[in-house]
Amino acid sequence: MCGIIAIAGTTPALPVLAQGLHLLAYRGYDSAGVALEHQGRLHVEKDKGRIADLAPAWLARGLEGCTGIGHTRWATHGPPSKPNAHPHLDARGEVAVVHNGILENDLALREELEAQGVRFASETDTEVVAHLFARAFRGDPVAAAREVLARCKGHFALAILHARLPGTVIGVRRGSPLLVGLGVGEVLLASDTKALAGRADRVLDLGEDEVALATAGGVRIVDAAGQEVRRAPRALGEREQDTGKGGFPHFMLKEIHEQPDRLYELLAGRVEASRGRVRLHEVALDDAAWRATSRIDLVASGTAHYASLYGAYALESLAGIPSRALVAAEYEARGPVLDPSVLVVAVSQSGETADTKAAVEVARARGARTLGVLNVRDSVIGRMVGGLVDIHAGPETSVASTKVYTGMLGALLLLALRAAQARGRGEEALRTLGPALPSVPGLVRRALGTWEQVRAVARHLDGVRDMLYLGRGPDAATAFEGALKMKELSYVHAEGYPAGEMKHGPIALVSRELVTVAIATPGPWRERMLANVREVSAREGPVVVVAAEGDREAARVATHVVEVPATDPWLAPLVNVVPLQLLAYEVAKRRGCDVDQPRNLAKTVTVQ
Ligand code: M6R
Repeated sequence: MCGIIAIAGTTPALPVLAQGLHLLAYRGYDSAGVALEHQGRLHVEKDKGRIADLAPAWLARGLEGCTGIGHTRWATHGPPSKPNAHPHLDARGEVAVVHNGILENDLALREELEAQGVRFASETDTEVVAHLFARAFRGDPVAAAREVLARCKGHFALAILHARLPGTVIGVRRGSPLLVGLGVGEVLLASDTKALAGRADRVLDLGEDEVALATAGGVRIVDAAGQEVRRAPRALGEREQDTGKGGFPHFMLKEIHEQPDRLYELLAGRVEASRGRVRLHEVALDDAAWRATSRIDLVASGTAHYASLYGAYALESLAGIPSRALVAAEYEARGPVLDPSVLVVAVSQSGETADTKAAVEVARARGARTLGVLNVRDSVIGRMVGGLVDIHAGPETSVASTKVYTGMLGALLLLALRAAQARGRGEEALRTLGPALPSVPGLVRRALGTWEQVRAVARHLDGVRDMLYLGRGPDAATAFEGALKMKELSYVHAEGYPAGEMKHGPIALVSRELVTVAIATPGPWRERMLANVREVSAREGPVVVVAAEGDREAARVATHVVEVPATDPWLAPLVNVVPLQLLAYEVAKRRGCDVDQPRNLAKTVTVQ
């Protein structure tokens, strides 16, 4: 989704903005642009297309100025086009604005401005801000920004230039994040820490309705009440500054290979198998609160929703708390019955997903307790929830979630074990899982060794149009997630199903053309899974079976088999998803798809 980078410095701004736009590209975008201030004049360059094509042309033109704003746009109001790309100017070309988020009253404001004679150059909600700010500016940028805040509804982060304020960038935020990065002799504004990599080593978070005035000499922040804010910057962690692919051709492949280390960091020190205890100090729920919990609603979107399916099974089975995974975008519509005994758990990588945030708002408004399972603590949802579990996956750049998915499974399992412990079921749950848990990073590392087998399977999938992914129990989630990875990366139509549902409809699709992927690793459901595989084979459908190493029976019924290390059925989903991630990657690569930035997708979906 849209991204902002801005700088007030003493060296040419354009290379910094171009680099920042490259770093923001992972969020997903369809157009990009910059505005530079030089000697009291603004110059804008923008268009639809890839930054890799646009930025070199801007750089070749040698645009001057040490102060500027840059933007990646993901179309919401109007299609991707040059006029709709940001930055947007006011009628006199004195104000340039970039915007992340949505203005909810833009139509009313547009009509009002049009009635006053303003002619709009774009279909965007953002342009309204350029005209409003220009009209409100009477020499004091803070007063003008506060006037804009008073007029606008919705959630937004804005970076603004005014030709009569040389060397200054104005930042404003409500709902959407905006960070102030402090570098050497320069101050930057950005919608996430990634865009600051290599330029800033300390950051300040801008609060709700705060206004920042950034110049090369420093930043002045004014809060919603008009008071000056003094806030200590925090250091940017090494991980937050790591932007390289680490020798891998794609971020996705790098992130898939990071999984063992990230899982080690998540699990190490949190499970005391010998004492049958799980430590999750960051969750502000004591034993009594867990005992008083009548139900858990896990609200999430996309991959996070599939992780939540697994989480709901674990919380209900291991801790004995009725739990359900619900698509965040549908939460309000179902009119959930909530009270303080219900715990609503928001699961999200970014902590910014608008649908998930809206579900948390419903939970809070109806009196439920809230918890986040998040990869970005310091995020919009992170600031809303009553407590959180950190997934510890580190920044994920590829649009497709991989290491965050396994991190979510690990974190949700820890949560289920912690709840089980509080409810007197911990020893039972940990008896088998406790000793096995520390082996998970190693098993995931071994599952990465399936890459050659997966490549061989991918060679057979050239030309495939439809796929069906089947799994049972905790691995039903793996089937959904495997199918999502395949469709979003390779654009092959793929559906995930709990395998038992196959005979209630999808079996009608089975033919030589439909490729089925079945997860049949050891556990109570393996026999039934193999029976489903036979049902597909009997109808001449090719089946790729994910089975335990050395499972000869599975190999016999499969068209292709991918062998993974065997483990406990609650831990298997963390292992079994790895070859499915690799399969999606390989098929997408063979089809020439843009692995890290699939078409139409955004990393952070900040619109509902
Ligand atoms: O940041 P979140 O985890 O809240 O994002 C949720 C989904 O948008 C995300 O998982 C999406 O489905 C990814 N494309 C999955 O690869």
